[in-house]
Amino acid sequence: MNVDAIRAGIPALANSVYLNTGTFGPLPTVAADEVRRAYGEVERLGTFSPHIFYEMELQGFEAVRNQVASLLGADPGEIALTRNVTDGINIVLHGIDWQPGDEVILTDQEHPAGTVPWLALAERAGVVLRWLELTLDPEEVVHRFAALLTPRTRLAQISHVSCLSGFRLPVERLCAAARRAGVLTLIDGAHAEGQFGVDFRALGCDFYAACGHKWLLGPQGVGMLAIRNDLVETLRPLWLGWDVQQQYDRAQRSYQLQATAARFEQSTRPWPLYLAFGKSIDFIKGVGQDAITARVQALRASFVAALLDLPGATVLSPVEGAFGTGLITVNVAGWACEALQQRFWERQRIVTNIIREFNAMRFSIAFFTAEAELQTALDEISKAIRDSALN
Ligand SMILES: Cc1ncc(COP(=O)(O)O)c(C=O)c1O
Repeated sequence: MNVDAIRAGIPALANSVYLNTGTFGPLPTVAADEVRRAYGEVERLGTFSPHIFYEMELQGFEAVRNQVASLLGADPGEIALTRNVTDGINIVLHGIDWQPGDEVILTDQEHPAGTVPWLALAERAGVVLRWLELTLDPEEVVHRFAALLTPRTRLAQISHVSCLSGFRLPVERLCAAARRAGVLTLIDGAHAEGQFGVDFRALGCDFYAACGHKWLLGPQGVGMLAIRNDLVETLRPLWLGWDVQQQYDRAQRSYQLQATAARFEQSTRPWPLYLAFGKSIDFIKGVGQDAITARVQALRASFVAALLDLPGATVLSPVEGAFGTGLITVNVAGWACEALQQRFWERQRIVTNIIREFNAMRFSIAFFTAEAELQTALDEISKAIRDSALN
């Protein structure tokens, strides 16, 4: 992998030590250029001109659907192009006819986007939430999950990767257990594709919600939901509107939804952003998913090893690579995470996120991360520990 050439195609990397792809990935120039090109065409030709309509809204959008389908190993008809993970979760949640007493299993490390809608559903519809308490031990997680399944369980929502610890959950095994119990599975894939390959079918889940703006380096505002073929017509679309390929008969006052997951998309969308997302996917594919995974694993292994040697730094992410990802969460003795985040930015322009629940910093290691950047972060952690000891 030619890391220097890749970095040259991502301008934000020249302006900071960017260790926060887990929140928002930096935008490659090819994607930004496509936003400029596509909106330039809109400006030049007018939005509702044949060129824009066919090449952008019809062919362009469908081409991106095909790219997303191929990325996830799903059929194009199983893909709804959404705005974000939240959209995907809400489409599933509102698509099911809940009865009081129905049970839903959630991990205790779901993002608020994957928790708040369920808490509201529990209040509104009497659905009972059962919490899967995560540990970093996959065997124990599988065991605890099995113990939560009851005849009333209807769905389990599980993050593919915990946004708190970076732990990669044993999703295949959890989905298999759920399937044996007749329980639907919704995977929150915010931190998966773009870090490692995702095979929708091999995972054995029913729904897979993801976003374009993190590890896939897409623009903000594009996401995806994969829905297993045989479930597309059983999920009730709550939000309906117009779509270019939907049938509507004003005289008969009747409508026909699309037969595919496109029925969960509706109305006017920022089409140019989806075209740009297609360029981000090309960018990732150009680097190669296997090469990306290998590099992230190598970088994380040396970063974690160095942290383990630092008294005062506590790694809250898996040490082992098999269940670890590029998200590394670290508690630094003597520091409030907010103060440390600000200090890192002010001293070295290091961009990170914080995990308040653990009073910890979260470093995102991506394939384009340079070894020298990780050394800068390690040096800053050492200095912070030293300075806190002096106080
Ligand atoms: C695991 C996880 N799920 C969902 C979200 C929310 O994503 P979106 O803004 O695409 O809905 C995030 C955002 O950080 C996340 O980390």
